[in-house]
Amino acid sequence: MNLLLENKINEVLADIFKSLELDEKFAVVKVSDRADLSDFQCNGALALAKIAHKNPRDIASAIAAKLADCDFCESVSFDGPGFINIKLKNEFIAQSIDKMAEDERSGCGTVDNPHKVVLDYGGPNVAKEMHVGHLRSGVIGESIRRLELFVGNRVISDVHLGDWGTPMGMILAEIIKHDGNLEKVETYNIEQITEFYKAANVRCKEDEAAREDARKITAALQDGNPEYRKAWQHLRVESFKAIKANYKELDVHFDLWLGESDAHETCREIVKIARDKGISEVDEGAEIIRLEESNKPKPPVIMVKSDGGFGYQLTDIATIKMRVDDLKASEIVYFTDSRQMLHFEQVFEAAEKLGIAPQVKMQHIVFGTVNGADGKPFKTRDGGVMDLKTLIEISKDKVRQSLPKAGEVEGYGEKEIEKLTWQIAIAAIKFQDLKNTISSGYVFELDDFAKFEGKTGPYIQYAVARINSILRKAKAQGLSEGKVILTAPEERVLALKLLQIHNVVMRTHTEKEPSIIADYAYNLAQIFSSFYNACSIMNAEAAELASSRLKLAKLVRDVLTLMLDLLGIEAPEVMLKAEN
Ligand code: ARG
Repeated sequence: MNLLLENKINEVLADIFKSLELDEKFAVVKVSDRADLSDFQCNGALALAKIAHKNPRDIASAIAAKLADCDFCESVSFDGPGFINIKLKNEFIAQSIDKMAEDERSGCGTVDNPHKVVLDYGGPNVAKEMHVGHLRSGVIGESIRRLELFVGNRVISDVHLGDWGTPMGMILAEIIKHDGNLEKVETYNIEQITEFYKAANVRCKEDEAAREDARKITAALQDGNPEYRKAWQHLRVESFKAIKANYKELDVHFDLWLGESDAHETCREIVKIARDKGISEVDEGAEIIRLEESNKPKPPVIMVKSDGGFGYQLTDIATIKMRVDDLKASEIVYFTDSRQMLHFEQVFEAAEKLGIAPQVKMQHIVFGTVNGADGKPFKTRDGGVMDLKTLIEISKDKVRQSLPKAGEVEGYGEKEIEKLTWQIAIAAIKFQDLKNTISSGYVFELDDFAKFEGKTGPYIQYAVARINSILRKAKAQGLSEGKVILTAPEERVLALKLLQIHNVVMRTHTEKEPSIIADYAYNLAQIFSSFYNACSIMNAEAAELASSRLKLAKLVRDVLTLMLDLLGIEAPEVMLKAEN
Protein backbone atom coordinates (compact mmCIF):
# COMPACT_ATOMS: atom_id res chain seq x y z
CA MET A 1 0.00 0.00 0.00
CA ASN A 2 1.45 3.31 -1.03
CA LEU A 3 -0.02 5.98 1.20
CA LEU A 4 1.78 8.94 -0.23
CA LEU A 5 -0.49 11.96 0.14
CA GLU A 6 1.01 13.57 -2.95
CA ASN A 7 -0.37 10.75 -5.09
CA LYS A 8 -3.90 11.31 -3.91
CA ILE A 9 -3.69 15.07 -4.49
CA ASN A 10 -2.08 14.56 -7.90
CA GLU A 11 -4.95 12.31 -8.97
CA VAL A 12 -7.53 14.95 -8.15
CA LEU A 13 -5.40 17.67 -9.69
CA ALA A 14 -5.07 15.68 -12.92
CA ASP A 15 -8.86 15.57 -13.24
CA ILE A 16 -9.08 19.30 -12.62
CA PHE A 17 -6.37 20.01 -15.19
CA LYS A 18 -8.23 17.84 -17.70
CA SER A 19 -11.50 19.66 -17.12
CA LEU A 20 -9.71 22.99 -17.63
CA GLU A 21 -7.99 21.64 -20.74
CA LEU A 22 -4.58 22.07 -19.17
CA ASP A 23 -1.68 19.70 -19.75
CA GLU A 24 -1.89 17.05 -16.99
CA LYS A 25 1.87 16.67 -17.03
CA PHE A 26 2.00 19.71 -14.75
CA ALA A 27 -0.55 18.39 -12.26
CA VAL A 28 2.00 17.60 -9.58
CA VAL A 29 2.44 18.78 -6.02
CA LYS A 30 5.42 18.73 -3.73
CA VAL A 31 5.80 19.11 0.01
CA SER A 32 5.56 22.82 0.69
CA ASP A 33 8.69 24.88 1.29
CA ARG A 34 6.60 26.99 3.64
CA ALA A 35 5.08 24.61 6.18
CA ASP A 36 3.56 27.61 7.96
CA LEU A 37 1.46 28.44 4.88
CA SER A 38 0.58 25.09 3.42
CA ASP A 39 1.25 21.36 3.42
CA PHE A 40 1.75 21.00 -0.33
CA GLN A 41 2.22 23.30 -3.27
CA CYS A 42 1.70 23.05 -7.00
CA ASN A 43 3.76 25.25 -9.27
CA GLY A 44 2.29 23.96 -12.53
CA ALA A 45 0.48 27.19 -13.36
CA LEU A 46 3.78 28.95 -14.00
CA ALA A 47 4.98 26.49 -16.60
CA LEU A 48 1.55 26.31 -18.24
CA ALA A 49 1.31 30.09 -18.46
CA LYS A 50 4.65 30.29 -20.16
CA ILE A 51 3.60 27.82 -22.84
CA ALA A 52 0.16 29.38 -23.39
CA HIS A 53 1.37 32.98 -23.03
CA LYS A 54 -1.21 33.62 -20.35
CA ASN A 55 -1.15 35.16 -16.91
CA PRO A 56 -0.11 32.45 -14.41
CA ARG A 57 -2.26 33.98 -11.68
CA ASP A 58 -5.39 33.47 -13.82
CA ILE A 59 -4.54 29.83 -14.37
CA ALA A 60 -3.66 29.33 -10.69
CA SER A 61 -6.89 30.96 -9.62
CA ALA A 62 -9.00 28.66 -11.85
CA ILE A 63 -7.22 25.56 -10.51
CA ALA A 64 -7.40 26.71 -6.89
CA ALA A 65 -11.14 27.41 -7.17
CA LYS A 66 -11.85 23.86 -8.31
CA LEU A 67 -9.43 22.24 -5.89
CA ALA A 68 -11.04 24.02 -2.95
CA ASP A 69 -14.16 21.86 -3.52
CA CYS A 70 -12.35 18.54 -3.01
CA ASP A 71 -13.21 16.69 0.15
CA PHE A 72 -9.75 16.47 1.67
CA CYS A 73 -8.64 20.09 1.27
CA GLU A 74 -8.95 22.37 4.25
CA SER A 75 -7.95 25.43 2.27
CA VAL A 76 -6.51 26.24 -1.14
CA SER A 77 -4.97 29.57 -2.02
CA PHE A 78 -2.52 30.99 -4.49
CA ASP A 79 0.11 33.63 -4.11
CA GLY A 80 3.08 35.24 -5.80
CA PRO A 81 3.28 34.61 -9.53
CA GLY A 82 0.88 31.64 -9.26
CA PHE A 83 1.95 29.17 -6.59
CA ILE A 84 -0.98 27.09 -5.41
CA ASN A 85 -0.95 26.33 -1.69
CA ILE A 86 -2.83 23.36 -0.35
CA LYS A 87 -3.64 22.65 3.26
CA LEU A 88 -5.17 19.27 4.02
CA LYS A 89 -8.00 18.50 6.41
CA ASN A 90 -6.88 17.00 9.69
CA GLU A 91 -9.35 14.12 9.35
CA PHE A 92 -7.85 13.18 6.00
CA ILE A 93 -4.33 13.06 7.44
CA ALA A 94 -5.60 11.14 10.47
CA GLN A 95 -7.35 8.54 8.32
CA SER A 96 -4.18 8.06 6.29
CA ILE A 97 -2.27 7.43 9.50
CA ASP A 98 -4.88 4.90 10.62
CA LYS A 99 -4.37 3.05 7.34
CA MET A 100 -0.61 3.29 7.68
CA ALA A 101 -0.75 1.75 11.14
CA GLU A 102 -2.66 -1.22 9.77
CA ASP A 103 -0.29 -1.79 6.88
CA GLU A 104 2.52 -4.24 7.54
CA ARG A 105 4.82 -2.19 5.27
CA SER A 106 3.91 1.04 7.07
CA GLY A 107 2.59 2.63 3.90
CA CYS A 108 5.54 1.83 1.66
CA GLY A 109 4.95 0.59 -1.85
CA THR A 110 7.16 -1.64 -3.96
CA VAL A 111 8.79 -1.21 -7.37
CA ASP A 112 6.56 -1.56 -10.44
CA ASN A 113 8.78 -4.04 -12.23
CA PRO A 114 10.60 -6.32 -9.80
CA HIS A 115 13.77 -7.81 -11.24
CA LYS A 116 16.93 -9.66 -10.27
CA VAL A 117 19.77 -7.49 -8.99
CA VAL A 118 23.29 -8.71 -8.32
CA LEU A 119 25.16 -6.56 -5.84
CA ASP A 120 28.95 -6.65 -5.78
CA TYR A 121 30.34 -5.16 -2.60
CA GLY A 122 32.95 -5.98 0.01
CA GLY A 123 35.60 -7.23 -2.38
CA PRO A 124 38.53 -7.60 0.02
CA ASN A 125 41.69 -9.20 -1.23
CA VAL A 126 42.72 -12.42 0.48
CA ALA A 127 45.81 -12.52 2.69
CA LYS A 128 45.35 -8.92 3.72
CA GLU A 129 44.09 -7.68 7.05
CA MET A 130 40.77 -5.91 6.57
CA HIS A 131 41.14 -2.24 7.38
CA VAL A 132 39.14 0.95 7.54
CA GLY A 133 39.33 1.27 3.75
CA HIS A 134 37.10 -1.82 3.54
CA LEU A 135 34.35 -0.32 5.66
CA ARG A 136 32.31 1.66 3.19
CA SER A 137 31.83 -0.91 0.45
CA GLY A 138 30.42 -3.43 2.95
CA VAL A 139 28.31 -0.96 4.91
CA ILE A 140 26.80 0.76 1.87
CA GLY A 141 26.36 -2.51 -0.01
CA GLU A 142 24.54 -4.14 2.90
CA SER A 143 22.15 -1.21 3.18
CA ILE A 144 21.40 -1.33 -0.54
CA ARG A 145 20.88 -5.11 -0.32
CA ARG A 146 18.23 -4.67 2.36
CA LEU A 147 16.63 -1.83 0.43
CA GLU A 148 16.46 -3.80 -2.84
CA LEU A 149 14.78 -6.67 -1.03
CA PHE A 150 12.38 -4.33 0.72
CA VAL A 151 11.22 -2.67 -2.49
CA GLY A 152 10.47 -6.08 -3.95
CA ASN A 153 13.46 -6.98 -6.09
CA ARG A 154 15.21 -10.33 -6.04
CA VAL A 155 18.76 -9.86 -4.82
CA ILE A 156 21.97 -11.82 -4.87
CA SER A 157 24.96 -10.29 -3.16
CA ASP A 158 28.48 -11.50 -3.89
CA VAL A 159 31.62 -10.61 -1.95
CA HIS A 160 33.83 -11.08 -5.01
CA LEU A 161 37.09 -11.69 -3.20
CA GLY A 162 40.35 -10.68 -4.79
CA ASP A 163 41.98 -14.11 -4.86
CA TRP A 164 43.45 -14.49 -8.33
CA GLY A 165 45.83 -11.63 -8.93
CA THR A 166 49.58 -11.08 -8.64
CA PRO A 167 49.45 -10.78 -4.82
CA MET A 168 48.83 -14.56 -4.78
CA GLY A 169 52.05 -15.20 -6.67
CA MET A 170 53.83 -12.67 -4.48
CA ILE A 171 52.96 -14.52 -1.28
CA LEU A 172 53.82 -17.93 -2.67
CA ALA A 173 57.16 -16.58 -3.94
CA GLU A 174 57.87 -15.07 -0.54
CA ILE A 175 57.10 -18.31 1.29
CA ILE A 176 59.35 -20.24 -1.11
CA LYS A 177 62.15 -17.73 -0.47
CA HIS A 178 61.71 -18.11 3.26
CA ASP A 179 61.17 -21.90 3.53
CA GLY A 180 62.82 -23.13 0.35
CA ASN A 181 59.51 -24.76 -0.66
CA LEU A 182 55.76 -24.72 0.03
CA GLU A 183 55.66 -27.69 2.38
CA LYS A 184 54.88 -25.75 5.51
CA VAL A 185 52.18 -23.54 4.00
CA GLU A 186 49.34 -25.51 5.52
CA THR A 187 50.56 -24.78 9.02
CA TYR A 188 50.39 -21.00 8.54
CA ASN A 189 47.59 -19.01 10.09
CA ILE A 190 46.21 -15.72 8.81
CA GLU A 191 48.62 -13.56 10.83
CA GLN A 192 51.61 -15.42 9.39
CA ILE A 193 50.20 -15.27 5.87
CA THR A 194 49.65 -11.54 6.23
CA GLU A 195 53.26 -11.13 7.37
CA PHE A 196 54.48 -12.94 4.26
CA TYR A 197 52.34 -10.66 2.16
CA LYS A 198 53.78 -7.56 3.79
CA ALA A 199 57.33 -8.82 3.25
CA ALA A 200 56.51 -9.67 -0.36
CA ASN A 201 55.19 -6.17 -0.90
CA VAL A 202 58.40 -4.60 0.36
CA ARG A 203 60.55 -6.92 -1.71
CA CYS A 204 58.57 -6.47 -4.92
CA LYS A 205 58.69 -2.71 -4.58
CA GLU A 206 62.46 -2.75 -4.73
CA ASP A 207 63.29 -5.76 -6.81
CA GLU A 208 62.24 -6.26 -10.44
CA ALA A 209 63.42 -9.89 -10.39
CA ALA A 210 61.11 -10.61 -7.44
CA ARG A 211 58.23 -9.02 -9.31
CA GLU A 212 58.98 -11.15 -12.34
CA ASP A 213 59.09 -14.23 -10.13
CA ALA A 214 55.71 -13.38 -8.59
CA ARG A 215 54.15 -12.84 -12.01
CA LYS A 216 55.44 -16.20 -13.23
CA ILE A 217 54.10 -18.01 -10.20
CA THR A 218 50.74 -16.26 -10.57
CA ALA A 219 50.50 -17.33 -14.21
CA ALA A 220 51.45 -20.92 -13.30
CA LEU A 221 48.96 -20.93 -10.45
CA GLN A 222 46.19 -19.79 -12.76
CA ASP A 223 47.28 -22.37 -15.32
CA GLY A 224 46.73 -25.14 -12.79
CA ASN A 225 50.15 -25.95 -11.28
CA PRO A 226 49.05 -28.48 -8.60
CA GLU A 227 51.60 -27.50 -5.97
CA TYR A 228 50.74 -23.81 -6.22
CA ARG A 229 47.03 -24.54 -6.32
CA LYS A 230 47.24 -26.59 -3.12
CA ALA A 231 49.18 -23.91 -1.25
CA TRP A 232 46.92 -21.16 -2.59
CA GLN A 233 43.84 -23.10 -1.49
CA HIS A 234 45.12 -22.97 2.08
CA LEU A 235 45.80 -19.20 1.91
CA ARG A 236 42.31 -18.74 0.61
CA VAL A 237 40.62 -20.87 3.28
CA GLU A 238 42.48 -19.11 6.10
CA SER A 239 41.67 -15.67 4.68
CA PHE A 240 38.04 -16.64 4.24
CA LYS A 241 37.74 -17.41 7.91
CA ALA A 242 39.16 -14.03 8.91
CA ILE A 243 37.10 -12.13 6.34
CA LYS A 244 33.90 -13.93 7.32
CA ALA A 245 34.51 -13.09 10.97
CA ASN A 246 34.98 -9.43 10.11
CA TYR A 247 31.78 -9.23 8.11
CA LYS A 248 29.84 -11.08 10.78
CA GLU A 249 30.99 -8.53 13.32
CA LEU A 250 29.95 -5.72 10.97
CA ASP A 251 26.61 -7.44 10.33
CA VAL A 252 27.20 -7.44 6.58
CA HIS A 253 25.70 -10.36 4.70
CA PHE A 254 26.61 -12.05 1.41
CA ASP A 255 24.61 -14.66 -0.47
CA LEU A 256 27.64 -15.77 -2.41
CA TRP A 257 31.25 -16.03 -1.32
CA LEU A 258 32.78 -16.21 -4.76
CA GLY A 259 36.07 -14.77 -5.85
CA GLU A 260 37.91 -13.76 -8.97
CA SER A 261 39.27 -17.31 -9.22
CA ASP A 262 35.75 -18.71 -9.68
CA ALA A 263 35.60 -16.92 -13.01
CA HIS A 264 38.70 -18.64 -14.35
CA GLU A 265 37.01 -21.07 -16.74
CA THR A 266 34.72 -18.33 -18.02
CA CYS A 267 37.79 -16.15 -18.59
CA ARG A 268 38.92 -18.68 -21.15
CA GLU A 269 35.50 -18.51 -22.79
CA ILE A 270 35.67 -14.73 -22.95
CA VAL A 271 39.07 -14.86 -24.63
CA LYS A 272 37.57 -17.21 -27.20
CA ILE A 273 34.48 -15.06 -27.78
CA ALA A 274 36.71 -12.02 -28.28
CA ARG A 275 38.84 -13.88 -30.78
CA ASP A 276 35.82 -15.28 -32.65
CA LYS A 277 34.26 -11.84 -32.86
CA GLY A 278 37.54 -10.41 -34.05
CA ILE A 279 37.63 -7.77 -31.33
CA SER A 280 40.85 -8.81 -29.63
CA GLU A 281 44.38 -8.38 -30.85
CA VAL A 282 47.88 -9.21 -29.72
CA ASP A 283 49.93 -6.27 -28.62
CA GLU A 284 53.47 -6.73 -27.33
CA GLY A 285 52.65 -10.29 -26.35
CA ALA A 286 49.45 -9.40 -24.49
CA GLU A 287 45.95 -10.07 -25.74
CA ILE A 288 43.88 -6.92 -25.58
CA ILE A 289 40.55 -5.37 -26.54
CA ARG A 290 40.81 -1.82 -27.82
CA LEU A 291 38.08 0.57 -26.75
CA GLU A 292 38.96 3.74 -28.53
CA GLU A 293 35.99 3.87 -30.88
CA SER A 294 33.90 5.03 -27.97
CA ASN A 295 33.21 8.71 -27.32
CA LYS A 296 35.71 8.84 -24.49
CA PRO A 297 39.09 7.30 -25.31
CA LYS A 298 40.24 4.74 -22.77
CA PRO A 299 43.24 2.46 -22.50
CA PRO A 300 42.63 -1.04 -23.86
CA VAL A 301 41.41 -3.92 -21.70
CA ILE A 302 44.27 -6.34 -21.13
CA MET A 303 42.69 -9.76 -21.14
CA VAL A 304 45.73 -11.99 -21.15
CA LYS A 305 49.05 -10.59 -20.01
CA SER A 306 52.23 -11.30 -21.93
CA ASP A 307 53.15 -14.02 -19.41
CA GLY A 308 49.84 -15.77 -20.02
CA GLY A 309 48.19 -14.62 -16.75
CA PHE A 310 44.59 -13.37 -16.72
CA GLY A 311 44.15 -9.76 -15.69
CA TYR A 312 41.74 -8.17 -13.19
CA GLN A 313 39.64 -6.76 -16.00
CA LEU A 314 39.19 -10.14 -17.62
CA THR A 315 38.03 -11.71 -14.35
CA ASP A 316 35.41 -8.98 -14.00
CA ILE A 317 34.23 -9.36 -17.59
CA ALA A 318 33.93 -13.12 -17.12
CA THR A 319 32.08 -12.60 -13.84
CA ILE A 320 29.53 -10.46 -15.68
CA LYS A 321 28.90 -13.32 -18.08
CA MET A 322 28.41 -15.74 -15.17
CA ARG A 323 26.05 -13.38 -13.39
CA VAL A 324 23.98 -12.95 -16.52
CA ASP A 325 23.98 -16.60 -17.65
CA ASP A 326 23.87 -18.43 -14.32
CA LEU A 327 22.30 -15.94 -11.93
CA LYS A 328 19.98 -14.36 -14.53
CA ALA A 329 20.87 -10.87 -13.37
CA SER A 330 19.12 -7.98 -15.08
CA GLU A 331 21.01 -5.40 -13.07
CA ILE A 332 24.51 -5.50 -11.59
CA VAL A 333 25.72 -2.86 -9.17
CA TYR A 334 29.30 -2.46 -7.94
CA PHE A 335 30.45 -0.49 -4.91
CA THR A 336 34.07 0.67 -4.75
CA ASP A 337 35.99 3.86 -4.22
CA SER A 338 36.90 6.20 -7.06
CA ARG A 339 40.20 4.51 -7.88
CA GLN A 340 38.32 1.89 -9.85
CA MET A 341 36.28 4.25 -11.99
CA LEU A 342 38.29 3.69 -15.13
CA HIS A 343 38.42 -0.06 -14.47
CA PHE A 344 34.62 -0.35 -14.51
CA GLU A 345 34.21 1.96 -17.49
CA GLN A 346 36.56 -0.33 -19.40
CA VAL A 347 34.90 -3.50 -18.15
CA PHE A 348 31.37 -2.29 -18.99
CA GLU A 349 32.42 -1.18 -22.44
CA ALA A 350 34.23 -4.43 -23.16
CA ALA A 351 31.16 -6.37 -21.99
CA GLU A 352 29.07 -4.40 -24.43
CA LYS A 353 31.48 -5.06 -27.31
CA LEU A 354 31.48 -8.75 -26.45
CA GLY A 355 27.67 -8.80 -26.31
CA ILE A 356 27.66 -10.86 -23.10
CA ALA A 357 25.19 -8.76 -21.15
CA PRO A 358 22.50 -7.47 -23.48
CA GLN A 359 19.90 -5.31 -21.77
CA VAL A 360 21.61 -5.67 -18.41
CA LYS A 361 21.92 -2.46 -16.45
CA MET A 362 25.40 -2.11 -14.99
CA GLN A 363 26.22 0.58 -12.52
CA HIS A 364 29.32 1.50 -10.57
CA ILE A 365 28.58 3.35 -7.34
CA VAL A 366 31.62 5.33 -6.29
CA PHE A 367 32.14 6.40 -2.70
CA GLY A 368 34.54 8.81 -1.05
CA THR A 369 37.18 7.80 1.50
CA VAL A 370 37.00 7.61 5.29
CA ASN A 371 39.31 10.37 6.50
CA GLY A 372 41.04 11.38 9.69
CA ALA A 373 40.73 14.83 11.26
CA ASP A 374 43.45 16.05 8.85
CA GLY A 375 41.19 15.28 5.89
CA LYS A 376 43.50 12.52 4.66
CA PRO A 377 42.62 8.79 4.67
CA PHE A 378 42.13 7.61 8.25
CA LYS A 379 45.27 6.28 9.96
CA THR A 380 46.21 4.95 13.38
CA ARG A 381 48.14 7.19 15.75
CA ASP A 382 51.45 5.75 14.56
CA GLY A 383 50.53 6.51 10.96
CA GLY A 384 49.54 2.97 9.96
CA VAL A 385 46.26 1.88 8.43
CA MET A 386 43.66 1.17 11.09
CA ASP A 387 42.38 -2.38 10.84
CA LEU A 388 38.68 -3.01 11.01
CA LYS A 389 38.78 -5.02 14.21
CA THR A 390 40.51 -2.17 16.05
CA LEU A 391 37.99 0.30 14.73
CA ILE A 392 35.11 -1.81 16.02
CA GLU A 393 36.88 -2.21 19.38
CA ILE A 394 37.28 1.57 19.67
CA SER A 395 33.59 2.01 19.02
CA LYS A 396 32.69 -0.64 21.59
CA ASP A 397 34.93 1.00 24.19
CA LYS A 398 33.15 4.30 23.66
CA VAL A 399 29.76 2.66 24.02
CA ARG A 400 30.79 0.81 27.19
CA GLN A 401 31.41 4.16 28.85
CA SER A 402 27.71 5.00 28.50
CA LEU A 403 26.36 1.65 29.65
CA PRO A 404 26.10 0.07 33.09
CA LYS A 405 28.45 -2.79 33.93
CA ALA A 406 27.35 -6.40 33.71
CA GLY A 407 25.17 -7.29 36.69
CA GLU A 408 24.27 -3.70 37.58
CA VAL A 409 20.91 -3.95 35.86
CA GLU A 410 18.66 -6.91 36.46
CA GLY A 411 18.65 -9.34 33.56
CA TYR A 412 21.79 -7.83 32.07
CA GLY A 413 24.76 -10.09 32.66
CA GLU A 414 27.97 -10.22 30.68
CA LYS A 415 26.36 -11.71 27.58
CA GLU A 416 23.48 -9.24 27.39
CA ILE A 417 25.70 -6.21 27.98
CA GLU A 418 28.14 -7.41 25.31
CA LYS A 419 25.34 -7.86 22.80
CA LEU A 420 23.96 -4.41 23.51
CA THR A 421 27.45 -2.89 23.30
CA TRP A 422 27.91 -4.52 19.93
CA GLN A 423 24.50 -3.39 18.62
CA ILE A 424 25.19 0.21 19.59
CA ALA A 425 28.81 0.21 18.43
CA ILE A 426 27.87 -1.09 14.99
CA ALA A 427 25.04 1.45 14.79
CA ALA A 428 27.54 4.21 15.58
CA ILE A 429 29.96 3.09 12.87
CA LYS A 430 27.36 2.42 10.20
CA PHE A 431 25.28 5.53 10.79
CA GLN A 432 28.31 7.78 10.80
CA ASP A 433 29.12 6.33 7.39
CA LEU A 434 25.64 6.26 5.89
CA LYS A 435 24.54 9.72 6.99
CA ASN A 436 26.96 11.20 4.45
CA THR A 437 26.16 11.30 0.76
CA ILE A 438 27.95 8.33 -0.75
CA SER A 439 30.11 10.25 -3.16
CA SER A 440 31.65 12.49 -0.52
CA GLY A 441 34.32 11.27 1.82
CA TYR A 442 33.87 11.90 5.54
CA VAL A 443 35.94 12.46 8.63
CA PHE A 444 35.76 9.58 11.08
CA GLU A 445 34.67 11.38 14.22
CA LEU A 446 36.29 9.59 17.11
CA ASP A 447 34.75 11.72 19.81
CA ASP A 448 31.08 12.06 18.97
CA PHE A 449 30.07 9.24 16.70
CA ALA A 450 29.00 6.90 19.50
CA LYS A 451 27.15 9.52 21.55
CA PHE A 452 23.50 9.09 22.31
CA GLU A 453 22.79 12.68 21.20
CA GLY A 454 23.21 14.41 17.86
CA LYS A 455 22.95 12.87 14.43
CA THR A 456 24.22 9.44 15.43
CA GLY A 457 23.06 5.84 15.15
CA PRO A 458 22.77 5.48 18.94
CA TYR A 459 20.50 8.55 19.04
CA ILE A 460 18.01 6.89 16.70
CA GLN A 461 18.27 3.61 18.61
CA TYR A 462 17.67 5.56 21.78
CA ALA A 463 14.56 7.18 20.29
CA VAL A 464 13.22 3.69 19.53
CA ALA A 465 14.03 2.43 23.04
CA ARG A 466 12.38 5.46 24.57
CA ILE A 467 9.15 4.78 22.68
CA ASN A 468 9.37 1.11 23.69
CA SER A 469 9.44 2.24 27.26
CA ILE A 470 6.40 4.49 26.70
CA LEU A 471 4.57 1.57 25.11
CA ARG A 472 5.39 -0.68 28.06
CA LYS A 473 4.13 1.89 30.53
CA ALA A 474 0.96 2.45 28.52
CA LYS A 475 0.32 -1.26 28.40
CA ALA A 476 0.82 -1.54 32.14
CA GLN A 477 -1.83 1.13 32.60
CA GLY A 478 -4.22 -0.68 30.29
CA LEU A 479 -4.06 1.99 27.61
CA SER A 480 -4.61 0.82 24.04
CA GLU A 481 -4.26 2.44 20.64
CA GLY A 482 -7.25 4.04 19.02
CA LYS A 483 -8.37 6.09 16.04
CA VAL A 484 -6.04 8.99 15.28
CA ILE A 485 -7.30 12.46 16.13
CA LEU A 486 -5.13 15.46 15.32
CA THR A 487 -5.52 18.43 17.60
CA ALA A 488 -2.12 19.93 18.44
CA PRO A 489 0.15 21.28 15.68
CA GLU A 490 2.90 18.90 16.84
CA GLU A 491 0.67 15.91 16.13
CA ARG A 492 -0.04 17.18 12.66
CA VAL A 493 3.63 17.80 11.84
CA LEU A 494 4.50 14.32 13.06
CA ALA A 495 1.72 12.70 11.06
CA LEU A 496 2.73 14.47 7.85
CA LYS A 497 6.33 13.43 8.37
CA LEU A 498 5.34 9.79 8.87
CA LEU A 499 3.35 9.86 5.66
CA GLN A 500 6.49 10.71 3.66
CA ILE A 501 7.92 7.24 4.16
CA HIS A 502 7.10 5.88 0.71
CA ASN A 503 8.89 8.73 -0.99
CA VAL A 504 11.90 8.44 1.28
CA VAL A 505 12.36 4.75 0.62
CA MET A 506 11.79 5.01 -3.11
CA ARG A 507 14.15 7.94 -3.51
CA THR A 508 16.82 6.15 -1.52
CA HIS A 509 16.34 3.20 -3.82
CA THR A 510 16.51 5.05 -7.14
CA GLU A 511 19.38 7.24 -6.06
CA LYS A 512 21.18 4.43 -4.20
CA GLU A 513 21.71 6.95 -1.45
CA PRO A 514 21.09 5.69 2.12
CA SER A 515 21.79 9.16 3.52
CA ILE A 516 18.21 10.05 2.52
CA ILE A 517 16.93 7.43 4.95
CA ALA A 518 19.46 8.50 7.60
CA ASP A 519 18.28 12.12 7.33
CA TYR A 520 14.65 11.13 7.49
CA ALA A 521 15.15 8.90 10.53
CA TYR A 522 17.01 11.65 12.34
CA ASN A 523 14.35 14.27 11.53
CA LEU A 524 11.55 11.92 12.49
CA ALA A 525 13.21 11.18 15.83
CA GLN A 526 13.54 14.90 16.49
CA ILE A 527 9.96 15.64 15.48
CA PHE A 528 8.80 12.84 17.75
CA SER A 529 10.71 14.43 20.59
CA SER A 530 8.94 17.77 20.12
CA PHE A 531 5.62 15.98 19.84
CA TYR A 532 6.21 14.04 23.04
CA ASN A 533 7.25 17.17 24.93
CA ALA A 534 4.10 19.00 23.86
CA CYS A 535 1.57 16.18 23.87
CA SER A 536 1.37 14.00 26.91
CA ILE A 537 0.23 10.46 26.31
CA MET A 538 -0.36 9.18 29.82
CA ASN A 539 -1.85 12.47 31.00
CA ALA A 540 -3.74 13.40 27.84
CA GLU A 541 -6.81 15.59 28.25
CA ALA A 542 -9.09 12.80 27.01
CA ALA A 543 -8.87 9.01 26.75
CA GLU A 544 -9.33 9.09 22.95
CA LEU A 545 -6.41 11.51 22.68
CA ALA A 546 -4.19 9.22 24.71
CA SER A 547 -5.09 6.30 22.44
CA SER A 548 -4.49 8.35 19.33
CA ARG A 549 -1.10 9.55 20.53
CA LEU A 550 -0.13 6.06 21.53
CA LYS A 551 -0.83 4.92 17.99
CA LEU A 552 1.32 7.72 16.59
CA ALA A 553 4.14 6.81 18.97
CA LYS A 554 4.02 3.15 18.03
CA LEU A 555 4.05 4.02 14.36
CA VAL A 556 7.12 6.21 14.84
CA ARG A 557 8.78 3.31 16.64
CA ASP A 558 7.96 0.94 13.76
CA VAL A 559 9.10 3.37 11.09
CA LEU A 560 12.36 4.18 12.88
CA THR A 561 13.02 0.47 13.39
CA LEU A 562 12.44 -0.12 9.70
CA MET A 563 14.70 2.77 8.70
CA LEU A 564 17.47 1.44 10.95
CA ASP A 565 17.01 -2.02 9.51
CA LEU A 566 17.37 -0.64 5.98
CA LEU A 567 20.65 0.92 7.08
CA GLY A 568 21.78 -2.46 8.44
CA ILE A 569 21.33 -1.46 12.08
CA GLU A 570 19.52 -3.32 14.86
CA ALA A 571 17.16 -1.56 17.23
CA PRO A 572 17.53 -2.93 20.77
CA GLU A 573 14.40 -3.05 22.93
CA VAL A 574 16.13 -1.01 25.65
CA MET A 575 19.29 1.07 25.75
CA LEU A 576 19.91 0.86 29.52
CA LYS A 577 20.12 4.58 29.90
CA ALA A 578 18.18 6.82 32.24
CA GLU A 579 14.53 7.32 31.20
CA ASN A 580 14.22 3.71 30.09
N1 ARG B 1 39.25 -6.64 -4.79
C1 ARG B 1 39.11 -5.32 -5.30
C2 ARG B 1 40.03 -4.37 -4.54
O1 ARG B 1 40.41 -4.64 -3.43
C3 ARG B 1 37.70 -4.81 -5.23
C4 ARG B 1 36.68 -5.66 -5.93
C5 ARG B 1 35.53 -4.88 -6.47
N2 ARG B 1 34.62 -5.67 -7.24
C6 ARG B 1 34.87 -6.11 -8.47
N3 ARG B 1 33.99 -6.88 -9.05
N4 ARG B 1 35.96 -5.78 -9.12
O2 ARG B 1 40.38 -3.33 -5.06
